[in-house]
Parts: sequence; C-alpha cells; structure tokens
Amino acid sequence: MSNKSLAKERDQLTILVTGGAGFIGSHTCVELLTRGYSVIIYDDLSNSSPVAVDRVRQITGASEAQLQFVQGSILDVPAMAAVFAGNEIDAIIHFAGFKAVGESVRKPLEYYHNNITGTLLLCQVARAHGVKNIVFSSSATVYGEPEFIPITEDCPKHDCTNPYGWTKSMLEQILSDLYVGDNEWNVVLLRYFNPIGAHVSGLIGEDPKGIPNNLVPYVAQVAVGKLEAVGVFGNDYPTPDGTGVRDYIHVVDLARGHVAALDWMGGKVGTGAAIGLGSVAGEPAADGSRRGVGIFNLGTGKGSSVLDVVAAFSKACGKDLPYVIKPRRAGDIAENYAACQKAADELGWVAEYDLARMCEDSWRWQSNNPNGYASE
Ligand code: UD1
Repeated sequence: MSNKSLAKERDQLTILVTGGAGFIGSHTCVELLTRGYSVIIYDDLSNSSPVAVDRVRQITGASEAQLQFVQGSILDVPAMAAVFAGNEIDAIIHFAGFKAVGESVRKPLEYYHNNITGTLLLCQVARAHGVKNIVFSSSATVYGEPEFIPITEDCPKHDCTNPYGWTKSMLEQILSDLYVGDNEWNVVLLRYFNPIGAHVSGLIGEDPKGIPNNLVPYVAQVAVGKLEAVGVFGNDYPTPDGTGVRDYIHVVDLARGHVAALDWMGGKVGTGAAIGLGSVAGEPAADGSRRGVGIFNLGTGKGSSVLDVVAAFSKACGKDLPYVIKPRRAGDIAENYAACQKAADELGWVAEYDLARMCEDSWRWQSNNPNGYASE
C-alpha cells in the first residue's frame, strides 16, 4: 500500500502520538493542536496521567474531535489496529517507551520487549494501513562517549551504557532499514539532548515517579521542599567548574522541533540538500513529500554545568538551593552539547529559550503542582 502524503495543510493532517500523555509527548500535542493538526494520543498510562490529557485540552481548547485519547499499549496489536481502522492517520510521532536508565539495567527483557517489540508491532500495523511516516524520539545517548564536541549528526554512534540507550540506538537502525527495504517510508530520527522546563501555563510538566533520576526534576523537588539537597555527581570532571556539562533544552522548543520535522517530511521546509551527515538522502515524492531518513539533533548548542543549573534554579525560585558533592555516577560522561546547524538549515528550527527561562517554567509547574498530576 502506498504511503500517506504529508504535502497538505496542517489542518488536514491527523497525527498519532504514542506516549502523548508523557512529558515530551504532552508538550508536543500542545504545539500540534495550536497549529491546527488533529491529534490522537495513544498511551498506556504506565508512566503518565490522564490529567495531562485534560490539561492539554485546557491549554489548547481542542474539541473532542481534534484531540482524541486512547488508552493502549504498543504491544496490543488489536487495539492499535482499531485506532488505525477508525481514523485517517497521516503520520506517527512515536514517544511511547520505557525510559528509566537504572531500571533498564535491572529489567533488560522488559525494556527490549516493550520498546523494540512494541515499535515493530506499531510499524507493522501502521504499514498495513498505509501509514509510513514516522518521527522517532531518539536520544543523544546514541553517541555514547562522543568522539567530538559539539556533536554533529555524523559523529559516529558508540556503545551505550545501558539497555534503555541501546533500545534507542537499535530502533534508529530498525527504522532506517524500513526505508532501505521500502522507499515509501519517511523517517525522522530526532536525537534529544536534555529536555527540561515546562509549558508557560504551569499546567503540564515533568512528573517523575518516585525519586527523580534526572537533575532538573531532582532540583525542582529540593526547591519545593520534598527533598533535602541536590547531590552533585562529581566535581572532578575536566570541565570549567568540574561538574558535568549538558545541553539543556526547553521542552517547548523540543516539541516545536517535532512540528518542524513533520513540515520537513511534507516538503514545506528545507531543501533536502543538507540531508547528509548520517541520514539517507531521499528523493522528494511527486507531491513534494520527502522520502528518506532524516537525522537531527535537537539541542541548543550551549553547555551548562550542574552548578550552573543549581544557580539558575535558585534564582528562579528565589532561594539558594543546598547541594552536596557526591561521587561520580557510573556511565556519566564529562560533557556533551549539540551542533544545531543541520536542524537550522533543513528544519528551519532553532531553540529559543535559555536556561533561566527553562528554570522559571520548571519552577512554575513544580510549585503549582508539588505532587505532579497527583495533586489533582
Ligand atoms: C540521562 C541519561 C540518558 C537519557 C537522559 C534522559 C544517564 C547516564 N543518562 O542523561 O541516557 O537519555 O537522562 O533525560 O542516566 N546529576 C547530578 N545529580 C543528580 C542528577 C544528575 O549531579 O541528582 C548530573 C549528572 O551527573 C549529569 C547532569 O547532572 O552531569 C545531567 O544528568 P541527567 O539529568 O540525569 O541527564 P543525563 O545523564 O545527561
């Protein structure tokens, strides 16, 4: 069956967003809906809340028709088939997956099964319904210990340090092979750096289960008084202040990168000329839609240290947040940040928000919802 064309107006397109109730997914739904797309969220709620869907509706004013929610797993073929059979879906943005690094080390079977088998099943069902446009939620983790910084998209991929990272790396390969086997596929792999922040409304944000593993959710819980002090994992790295440096990106900027990727697939932006750098160049289809595999970093190009983040968050919440230096965390690298030129040239996308704004928005979300969505 031939693929759906994305060379249409945005309000003519329906996007299936797997994992759409999650942190990045919910922010992406807001950006899609405010630009006229129709959205179907498909989410098993294993690590997200239905309140997030209500909040997306509240922010955007989307009607029941423009925003549908289906609770289901990417391992449930009949449930996915029913969604494709009952709707004219044009493209998929695929976020659904387990994502806790430490847990993935303890539960490799569960991680590989859910993330990899689930994606294979999703693609099989989609293909059977003539949908071969997919934007995949990948990660800078696929670069492993990066060969050079800033990291361009053609920086060689390296070994990942945990099964979560491997699922991202392997799924990039699997999705690229889909295009090699059938040139009707249109695949974009978005390699995220460190998404933080929240929607400016303070209505949606990151809501980790239990004690947060990632830096900013941890800092936010110290700020709100739920945790005592930030543990800084190592201050003897070869970085300006000795603490780890990352490329933090506002989740709303990241979400807009997904809209840009859909525009690019539909031939609305970009030339296809800069598609090298690890991507498989695709010829545009007769209708202007792009075909191929596009790989893009989504970051700001700017590195911030752990202490920079603690200072910026302290400013945002109006009090000095306590921290203690701890040993290095296994598997961490000293420094990474993105080269962002390719996304700028091809997608016409650049991140707008700085670290101060990311922390202000995180703080608004955290202080308005000290227990996340469970506050409701
Ligand atoms: C982590 C994952 C990465 C995943 C990403 C998703 C690891 C090794 N990597 O990236 O695979 O794609 O999250 O968001 O888990 N830090 C502290 N104290 C803390 C927490 C973190 O000092 O309590 C430091 C870390 O050492 C690092 C920086 O803060 O230097 C950022 O850490 P984190 O937010 O966990 O992100 P990454 O490790 O970059």
